[in-house]
Amino acid sequence: MYFPQELIDQVQQNNDIVDVINEYIPLTKKGANYVCLCPFHQDSNPSLTVSRQKQLFKCFACGEGGNVITFLQKYDAKSFVEAVQTLADRAGIKLPENYQSEYSKEKQDQKQRLIDCNIEAARYFYALLRSDDGKKGLEYFKKRELSDETMKKFGLGYSNVNGKDCIAYLKNQGFKDKEIIDAGIGVYDERNGLRAKFWNRVMFPIKNQAGKVIGFGGRVLGEGEPKYLNSPETPVFNKSTNLYAFDLAKASRSTYFILCEGYMDVIALHQAGFNMAVASLGTAFTPGQANIIRRYVKDVYLSYDSDGPGVKAAIRASKICREYGLSCKVIDMSPYKDPDEFIKALGRDEYQKRIDEAKNAFIFEIGVLRKQYDSSDPDANTRYDNEVAALLAEMKDEVQRTNYIKACAKEMGISESTLSDMVAKEAGKVRRFSEPVHEKSGIHEKKDDPNIKAQQLMLTYLAEYPSIYPQLEKIITPEDFTDETCREVAVRFFEDIKNGNASPARMVSMFEDEEIQNKVSDMFTGYLNGIEGREEKEAALVDIIYRIKANSLEEMKNSGQSVDPTLFMKKKKELIDIRRIKIQIPD
Ligand code: GTP
Ligand code: MN
Repeated sequence: MYFPQELIDQVQQNNDIVDVINEYIPLTKKGANYVCLCPFHQDSNPSLTVSRQKQLFKCFACGEGGNVITFLQKYDAKSFVEAVQTLADRAGIKLPENYQSEYSKEKQDQKQRLIDCNIEAARYFYALLRSDDGKKGLEYFKKRELSDETMKKFGLGYSNVNGKDCIAYLKNQGFKDKEIIDAGIGVYDERNGLRAKFWNRVMFPIKNQAGKVIGFGGRVLGEGEPKYLNSPETPVFNKSTNLYAFDLAKASRSTYFILCEGYMDVIALHQAGFNMAVASLGTAFTPGQANIIRRYVKDVYLSYDSDGPGVKAAIRASKICREYGLSCKVIDMSPYKDPDEFIKALGRDEYQKRIDEAKNAFIFEIGVLRKQYDSSDPDANTRYDNEVAALLAEMKDEVQRTNYIKACAKEMGISESTLSDMVAKEAGKVRRFSEPVHEKSGIHEKKDDPNIKAQQLMLTYLAEYPSIYPQLEKIITPEDFTDETCREVAVRFFEDIKNGNASPARMVSMFEDEEIQNKVSDMFTGYLNGIEGREEKEAALVDIIYRIKANSLEEMKNSGQSVDPTLFMKKKKELIDIRRIKIQIPD
């Protein structure tokens, strides 16, 4: 946290979220809330809801949510500090000169050291590639037809057969052993002590959005395992929110990005003039990456390998793109394996042609699906049609869905209304009422876990009706929340309710990570509206309490720690009684 909490509170209290968002996007009143078209995905029906009571916004279609500070961070791509500053200015609040707390300053400084260490390592690898010791590396790149200019542009390097030199160089530059390890350049083990992670590999520096080196991919010269060795995750190297060559693609000012699988693919494309190519970092494409891309472009062209796994990966990536409102097309690279080989064989003009002919990713996907069904078998055809309908039913945006139904019906040779009916039927199967929690990065992996859902809904209830807290106090404690983020929030939120100043918006600012902020917003904007009437809400609340307690007891049993049997029995008995409690919710 960069500011004292009181100051963040003051800034938030003086910047009503409804007024602030309304200055960017006109809001319309709807019930107790306000709504508008969501700026964070391609929205055709107002999905962004803003609550004055909770001082939170939430998009029920794409999942973005947060408080007034988060809104500015996301809408204007501002840092936390910048967003607070903007809002302080808006409200005429003067921020102290030296606003960084000692803690955060230290953390910032530490991160800077790790980046500096990576930059130094990149310099070392770069110089080595061009020295006598780097001949093998240079030969390798030449063999792969990279020009000197390309090698320079990507800062390519080489790590010595003898890894000691790299470590010695970094130490000589003033980096401590721990810093070299934390930066992901060195590894430590009892037997060998500190040694270089990369040796005898050609090196691809990976940069963050600001163009600073945060990690490396290292490729063996020729055959060997692993083919690519990547830096580990470090405080500065997050593989799910960075992209290879993103800084260059951004600078290209292109209206679209080309997304590939490999570093070499990106480099080959840039060398051929396609300087809007990016790649994920040795892992599958992530929602965090889609989130970054959509701030710059609306269109993504997938240039994945043309083999089976490549096609699968392309379909997965395109789903993520679509969820984030990115329009996605698939470039056909056949008969070549990947863009690198394609360009080498056919050159840039042919590749450009393939871009121009690229197929919509969804149409591509149902084409792939089609091949899995025997088209001469009517039953197989029915299953195929149903499967396509199920895929269409997953689309949350109505206009998007309608347009896809139109296109698919044509592709499938059935009428639009037939397909539309099938989709409606599938949609009924999928969800009874709209699900608030949106799948994002790994953090939400357990989103369907009903236990976590119950914990989130508990917090939603308390945000909606803080006055019920005294009735709950003796039943539920923060320790009952088994989900880590829920628990952290519960500790603080319960405390605040007791002190009479509960603020869901404040909870969001407890966390720096954008994905966790979304998750916290989910906790306070869970879907109570689907539950009609007070009595039903009260009954649902008892169910939630029961589930939380039962889960908490289960965890206690499974924790492996010795549990006092009398305490356990007591809790077990309490659990049975919970079914009979009555919580009163105000009108
Ligand atoms: P080249 O053989 O150099 O042309 O590789 P490529 O760019 O065609 O890569 P490939 O399709 O084999 O892999 C695509 C990407 O996956 C690479 O750029 C790496 O980021 C990653 N990758 C490949 N092999 C490995 C591996 O063994 N380990 C890890 N962690 N990542 C790998
Ligand atoms: Mn390749």
